[in-house]
Amino acid sequence: MKISNITKSVLGCTLFLFLTMQGIHGSDALAYPPIGPLPPLTIPADNPQTAAKIELGKKLYFDPRLSGNNLFSCATCHNPTLGFADGLPRFLGGPTAKEGGRHSPTIINCAYNEFQFWDGRAATLEEQALGPIQNPNEMFETLDNVVRKLSGIPEYVNAFKEVFGTGITTNGIAKAIAAFERTIVFSNSPFDKYMQGDEHAMSELAKRGMFLFMGKAECIKCHNGPNFTDNKFHNIGVPTEVPFKEDLGRYNVTKKDSDKGAFKTPTLRNITDTAPYMHNGFFPTLFEVVQFYNGGGGRSENKSPDIHGLNLTGEEVNDLIEFMKALTGELVQIKYDAIPLVYPNLPKGF
Ligand code: HEC
Ligand code: HEC
Repeated sequence: MKISNITKSVLGCTLFLFLTMQGIHGSDALAYPPIGPLPPLTIPADNPQTAAKIELGKKLYFDPRLSGNNLFSCATCHNPTLGFADGLPRFLGGPTAKEGGRHSPTIINCAYNEFQFWDGRAATLEEQALGPIQNPNEMFETLDNVVRKLSGIPEYVNAFKEVFGTGITTNGIAKAIAAFERTIVFSNSPFDKYMQGDEHAMSELAKRGMFLFMGKAECIKCHNGPNFTDNKFHNIGVPTEVPFKEDLGRYNVTKKDSDKGAFKTPTLRNITDTAPYMHNGFFPTLFEVVQFYNGGGGRSENKSPDIHGLNLTGEEVNDLIEFMKALTGELVQIKYDAIPLVYPNLPKGF
């Protein structure tokens, strides 16, 4: 038996013991993939991680020349100092920095996602990366023009040659950015330390919150597995009335009526770093989120049957929030050497 299997079965038994001790209907919680430390990441065979590729991906991630007006980089909306999100309810993008319809999700641990975007329209990070560059409401640039701009910068030409043995290609841009994103993994939260045996890593309140999460509050039905997501889509009835536009979510991808208003279950790791919450940034704080669930979610014809009133007391609401706070790992400092911003292909004085 491998070490990891032993660890897993120890954790499984401990969890079962906890649940039984707390009088939680163990069979209910154990029907879902257990929450616990993140497993090692699976790296796609056609895009192995190398130090030079990650470094190139990091440069591209922070480079505003990937946008139409050379002002927006990926880090504008997925900013390392704002939990790799932007702190706004809905993103600002496009040539006039107009407000979009959706909230910028964090890219922390996005390498563990089975689907990217709130509606899951991209499967892999490689597939995702070229989307925002071309989106007229985000970076509004053409791929041809990005390739043209980067081809005029010797540092990039050399780096692409070293990493891919080619000139600048869109495929290379996507692969390098994805490789960098796969390094943004946070797995050192108090919860992780607790699950690895440090009993004191979580407060008593947070521990009570964990049992509520798996029991009475039923959060585990959707926020399960090591990344606290089932990688599925649900309509929980997040309000979309004015000033919000109706957003059909997953339906836009599948055209199935049952997917109307359904969004991807987001990870809850590092959740305290990424307020406001939900696909449209409707709730400013975790307190409002938990009160929303406690009251039976929102109104929608298509609402998931797993969303209903919870009868949590004020103290229980607080314990749940304390548990979610314990899912935040320390933000890792990202250091990078930016390629100096010269714009070789732009008119003088731009
Ligand atoms: C103008 C703001 C903005 C910029 C710039 C931007 N993004 Fe995003 N990003 C968003 C928003 C908003 C979403 C969610 C969109 C949706 O679900 O339809 C998103 C989603 C994502 C996701 C999916 C995360 C998840 O959990 O589903 C990844 C990964 C990502 N962006 C990476 C990038 C990369 C890489 C770049 C640069 C090439 C970039 N973004 C540029 C706003 C932005
Ligand atoms: C039926 C599945 C389901 C259940 C049960 C559920 N959630 Fe969610 N959760 C979701 C989905 C789907 C979203 C995103 C919805 C949206 O944006 O429209 C979400 C969003 C959230 C968010 C916002 C995350 C972010 O990054 O914006 C938090 C926090 C959250 N849930 C906590 C909880 C807690 C706490 C419980 C238990 C009281 C719970 N959830 C129960 C499916 C579920």
